[in-house]
Amino acid sequence: MSATGKQIALTPPQVASSKGGNPLVCLTAYSTPMARIADRHCDIVLVGDSVGMVVHGLESTLGVTLDMMILHGQAVRRGLERSLMVVDMPFGSYEESPQQAFRNASRVMRETGCGAVKLEGGQSMAETIRFLVARGIPVMAHVGLTPQAVNAFGGYVVQGRGEDGKRVLLDAQAVADAGAFSVVLEKVPDTLGRQITEQVSIPTIGIGASAACDGQILVVDDMLGMFDAFRPKFVKRYAELGEMADEAVAAYAREVRNRSFPGQEHVFGDAMPKQVREPSS
Ligand code: KIV
Repeated sequence: MSATGKQIALTPPQVASSKGGNPLVCLTAYSTPMARIADRHCDIVLVGDSVGMVVHGLESTLGVTLDMMILHGQAVRRGLERSLMVVDMPFGSYEESPQQAFRNASRVMRETGCGAVKLEGGQSMAETIRFLVARGIPVMAHVGLTPQAVNAFGGYVVQGRGEDGKRVLLDAQAVADAGAFSVVLEKVPDTLGRQITEQVSIPTIGIGASAACDGQILVVDDMLGMFDAFRPKFVKRYAELGEMADEAVAAYAREVRNRSFPGQEHVFGDAMPKQVREPSS
């Protein structure tokens, strides 16, 4: 809380200094209502480019645009008071050069009010991360399975098994050295997730990584059971909202067809109300 009693959002330096402390609770959100719920329980809310798949029905995150990220970022911002808001840089908006990354990341920050951006890539993105951080843009990095490179990987396959573990470790070290304040580790073996967490100086945020990570993140639609296109092993479903929604819509359709909805309690009488208090009465 500030001296004026106004809640202050968690900052990237506070996240960085939480290394080795209490686990960071992170979740994605794409809308104001979901952001309000996440804000009550989470430290970091990510407007992930997974929005393309779980909200817009795209086959991968590759079709997500900067405008989509900004629109969802603005919606999420309205629902947050205390969590750190991070917005994903979509495919093609940052890889060309540090200058391109700065131009687009500064637009994301200006137009959404987020506290940081996230971008995918390790050693190859270190120069860009350094450039952004030096110009006041906090960066969360993302290594291991980076979904924007799904075609290059040949699918959503576990990264860093055996000898390949060195590459992922070097990626995590490179983004930490470049000034990222935290790093998402996606779909790597448990032992590698633990090793990277021990060896890099910034908090690791695992998704399909290891319980030893400094924090965990899930895609909100996955953990609420609202996305069924595929179910990665690392997703724990904490609810089955998709099933509940299906049952509710089926009940509505049944009641409309058999004319039991709307009931008397949902329709208006002829009589004028005695005292008009609300426009809807
Ligand atoms: O886009 C996203 O939701 C992400 C998380 C899976 C970390 O990048």
